[in-house]
Amino acid sequence: MPLFPNATSAETHQKGANFTSGDHKAQQSQARKQLIAQQRKSLPIAAVEKILVAEVKKNDTLIIVGETGSGKTTQLPQFLFNAGYCTHGKVIGITQPRRVAAVTVAKRVAEECNVDLGQKVGYSIRFEDATSSSTRIKYMTDGLLVREALLDPFLSRYSIVIVDEAHERTVHTDVLLGLLKNVQHARSQSMVKQQNFDRLNGDSLVSDKEAKTQSIGGLKACQHAKHTPLKLVIMSASLDARGFSEYFGGAKAVHIEGRQYPVDILYTYHPEPDYLEATLITIFQIHLEEGPGDILAFLTGQEEIESVERLVHEHARQLPEGCQKVLTVPIYSSLPSEQQMNVFKPAPPGHRKVILATNIAETSLTIPGIKYVIDPGLVKARSYNHITGMESLIIIPISKAQALQRSGRAGREGPGKCFRLYPESEFGKLIDSTVPEIKRCNLSNVVLQLKALGIDDIIGFDFMEKPSRMAIVKSLEQLSLLGALTDDYKLSDPVGLQMARLPLDPLYSKALIMASDFKCLEEMLIIVAMLSVESIFYFPREKIDEARAARKSFLSSEGDHITLLNVYRAATECLKKSKAANRKEKTVEKSLNRWCRENFINNRSLKHARDVHSQIKGHVQQMGLVISSCGDEMVQFRRCLTASFFLNAALKEPDGSYRAIASSQNVQIHPSSVLFRTKPDCIIFNELVRTNQNYVRNLTRVDPLWLPELAPQYYEAQK
Ligand code: CDP
Ligand code: MG
Repeated sequence: MPLFPNATSAETHQKGANFTSGDHKAQQSQARKQLIAQQRKSLPIAAVEKILVAEVKKNDTLIIVGETGSGKTTQLPQFLFNAGYCTHGKVIGITQPRRVAAVTVAKRVAEECNVDLGQKVGYSIRFEDATSSSTRIKYMTDGLLVREALLDPFLSRYSIVIVDEAHERTVHTDVLLGLLKNVQHARSQSMVKQQNFDRLNGDSLVSDKEAKTQSIGGLKACQHAKHTPLKLVIMSASLDARGFSEYFGGAKAVHIEGRQYPVDILYTYHPEPDYLEATLITIFQIHLEEGPGDILAFLTGQEEIESVERLVHEHARQLPEGCQKVLTVPIYSSLPSEQQMNVFKPAPPGHRKVILATNIAETSLTIPGIKYVIDPGLVKARSYNHITGMESLIIIPISKAQALQRSGRAGREGPGKCFRLYPESEFGKLIDSTVPEIKRCNLSNVVLQLKALGIDDIIGFDFMEKPSRMAIVKSLEQLSLLGALTDDYKLSDPVGLQMARLPLDPLYSKALIMASDFKCLEEMLIIVAMLSVESIFYFPREKIDEARAARKSFLSSEGDHITLLNVYRAATECLKKSKAANRKEKTVEKSLNRWCRENFINNRSLKHARDVHSQIKGHVQQMGLVISSCGDEMVQFRRCLTASFFLNAALKEPDGSYRAIASSQNVQIHPSSVLFRTKPDCIIFNELVRTNQNYVRNLTRVDPLWLPELAPQYYEAQK
């Protein structure tokens, strides 16, 4: 049954898909260069290059507002490079809230500049660095730049920092904005001091002691450091630049005139109880009834994307003979980077491309060829309970601003259609714009990082939007319990310092440090890597029994952590065997992929986990932690898990549900856990998921007596 009875429209013609016909390679590459040059020239931003460069020159902080696809992210850094902002080895840094955007845009810009990625143009994201000493245009995640400030408080390599996608207001963006404001001020102060110093010919205006220790917003200004001003550009796709402008002392905002074709908005008559099913039906309704053009469907995460992808493949097999084929392309943040670029490739002849994306495709990525958007109106977001101090991931309705951005994606190249999988009356109930993440997340990581940057007064920190005092206090308490802070709330040495250095959630950092003491760091590295990725197992509907049987071979009755450990160890074993047989790297990968298929393991997730593993292993080695293994001594390992995750412990209640000790919340074991049926008396867990219930995921059975023994700082005080 189609959900949108009036959706059929006249045939339209797809633009843009250019296929070269197997010509000579050089010709192809020449054609590609011409195409790119032509595309660049036709971008709305191209017409205002001179004006933008002049504005950046005039203003220390500039806000640029422009519709998605106007060329902000790919073009502005190149304009500024050409305007001479990279002399004396200086770098233009562009931050993105998402890894995928940083990677794909860097690849595109390297191609536009006709250079190898990692040379003049590069990217750096957590667990992956593609830059070199010759990199001048550097794309990175906002979180990564915050980390760089730990090592280089003045961000002295950068002449300009461009904070992109600022409207998303991720927690890292907000922290970064506050930090950049400080750095900008500190750099100009240090310049004034330097000028005075030069003017007085060695006779500094400030006393030596004062100059050496002067602290500006926590940044220690060094007397003789030569600094140039730091230029800031804040880029946003949302029209309202007021907030940013006020925060930066009335900074100037410029608007780039965009190009947007009309988009027909269609609503369902009734709310859809199963939005995945509704997405599937709508994909095929469009495919069968509408003219050419690609489809973009917004889903909430990797798991949903993969499950819809499988369903689309199943249904596509039943399409009538001679019907155009369907090509699905997933895109989400943790997708391995070699697969990310697929989204930009045009569909081969005879195919319609169906892009299954998270909200990454809202504004971060501009994907050509889209004519139809399917919007279930939901997003996965962090949610934080101030009282209990617990953070969880929940699926919530999007804001009006997001709904508009999503529908806008259908009208980039011509008139389009947006299928909202909810009734029009629901649209009216959506909030206007998304609540900044800093207001709805656990702040432990933010607090730890600010402390490491020398900013001790967190409550007094100049946030664009202040998180609640309660949330800050709760995080300070948590960090103290983890041993990261001293009694007077300073960063502790070495634990706090080590935790701040690791690019992980403080709980995971603490687990690695603990594991070094418990002599099971090898195992904990694997667990942290496996917990950093989504869904290692998958259970296709049509083969559910086989998949369950496959999981049994890894299953540990102690819980999910050791089950994950078994998977990783088995995968490593498979790799070792392959390598021992002297196979080529490609063949080794292939045999691992086959192993994954046979065992119903998600090979994308496993690959990501292996990458994360090798990165954090490098970090802990650098820190001098001892990597030893507890072998099969799983009691020791479970004790280490208890000592690390004691804040997430829960006890069984008489009715079979659980009570999380720290928050007193009632929780249930998630059906995906290996302990779902066993229901042990006491568990520690890593994740709280809220749907209609509070579910905990990734659990291990522990002895309740271990809690006061291994975390007396918490459980003794609770008595
Ligand atoms: O940042 P903004 O949304 O304003 O635009 P952009 O990301 O700079 O994209 C400008 C153009 O580059 C778009 O029309 C895309 O089609 C193209 N682009 C691409 O083809 N491949 C990429 N990886 C990134 C951008
Ligand atoms: Mg952009």
